[in-house]
Amino acid sequence: MDVPDRVPKERYFDPDFFQMEAELLWPRVWQMACRLEEIPEPYDFVEYELLDQSVIVVRGAPPGDGGDMGVRAFQNACRHRGVRVVEGRGTCERGFVCPFHGWCYGPDGTNSRIPRRKSFAAHNLQPDDINLVPVRCEVWGGCAWINLDDDAPPLRECIEPAASTLDAWMVESLRAEWWLACRLPVNWKLAVEAFVESYHVVQAHPQLVIPTRYGMRDNAPFDPRAFIDADIQYLRAMSEGMAGMVHANDVRVAESLRDMELPADPQLAMATWNRTLNDAVTGWHRDRGAKMPSLNELDAQGINLEFFQLFPHYFVLPMYSSASSYRFRPLGPEETLMEIWSLTRYPEGEEPLTPPQPEAWESDDPRWPPIPAQDFSNLPRQQRGLHAKGFEYMRLSSELEGHISNFERTIDGFLAGLPHDKLLPAVQSVNVYPFDRPILDIGL
Ligand code: FES
Ligand SMILES: [Fe+2]
Repeated sequence: MDVPDRVPKERYFDPDFFQMEAELLWPRVWQMACRLEEIPEPYDFVEYELLDQSVIVVRGAPPGDGGDMGVRAFQNACRHRGVRVVEGRGTCERGFVCPFHGWCYGPDGTNSRIPRRKSFAAHNLQPDDINLVPVRCEVWGGCAWINLDDDAPPLRECIEPAASTLDAWMVESLRAEWWLACRLPVNWKLAVEAFVESYHVVQAHPQLVIPTRYGMRDNAPFDPRAFIDADIQYLRAMSEGMAGMVHANDVRVAESLRDMELPADPQLAMATWNRTLNDAVTGWHRDRGAKMPSLNELDAQGINLEFFQLFPHYFVLPMYSSASSYRFRPLGPEETLMEIWSLTRYPEGEEPLTPPQPEAWESDDPRWPPIPAQDFSNLPRQQRGLHAKGFEYMRLSSELEGHISNFERTIDGFLAGLPHDKLLPAVQSVNVYPFDRPILDIGL
């Protein structure tokens, strides 16, 4: 990008640009490959696909069977003639058997059988050459992550500073309550960028604009009752709008506090309400035996934030006890698979079963909750609008939409083939609370 607050339109549909991303971006970044609920038991595996790459993520043998239940990943290609060894997800207690000629691999990727082995020349059976090709895999935040680049920095460095904040918020103890997927007729970056600024909220999500939330309507004097009602209305609008994010449990906790007395001073009243609600939500979850951080301790550290992007394609959006989470995968220059998880906390031992892998719904499917439905209604129109002859570039607000520029210029750094030590500060500049971010010097 030549001008940081102008994004040329071609990068959202040009097949050559898309191909450069396939070759220079995706194979070099950490990708959230699955939630760990998908592979809870020994030998459970799941296939993770992005464009033409497919990776098997598998949980190893239990200690009783000589294993460590560790999560490993392999390229999903038989070492004989390249057939994808697995599809979807399942359990591989006896390992993987290639469906074509029956080559066998253990759960650790080791080749364990080759039918009619003696018919192959020795140079084609070198031990290291016939195991599944390992892929770097690390676990963080309740998810398994993969990276196809042996030179990339460790996962942790590539997801800071979001990782430390989300660790303090105990993101790893969340479980999926539901999981949905949308096929969006737009470029994957366009989809990402619909969720990283709050500038669109007033126009696109009017139900979230609640005038008396801060007691400011018509310069009226501060009314603590109206303030509480407005805050509860906001929490309910978020909760119903996302079918989660602010979990219905937390809305009920807020409603139980509706009649509390607040000081007359507005600042003091808001602080008192927030502190009381934080404590009540924290206590409610701890009392039922769920792992839950102290929201007021997070507030005191200034890290009780609501939205994180983990470059390039994973998001966590915590609110009170729970969160929504997004993942975006390109299917083509103008087609994206967006997944949404609703995550919450459960008493230990009462976590729900693994959610089924979702069928992708169309973006205008009437089953979408109201807030994603509003976002999805704009995205296809935007993708079509970009093709207008007279439209050359997006003009970004340098104060409100700087994150989009920081994100796009970080992608440019990958496409320029820069080394990882140059890219890391840029990646970390994206792994933050994205709303209302300025355009930064990201060091590229
Ligand atoms: S391709 Fe897998 S056994 Fe032949
Ligand atoms: Fe939105």
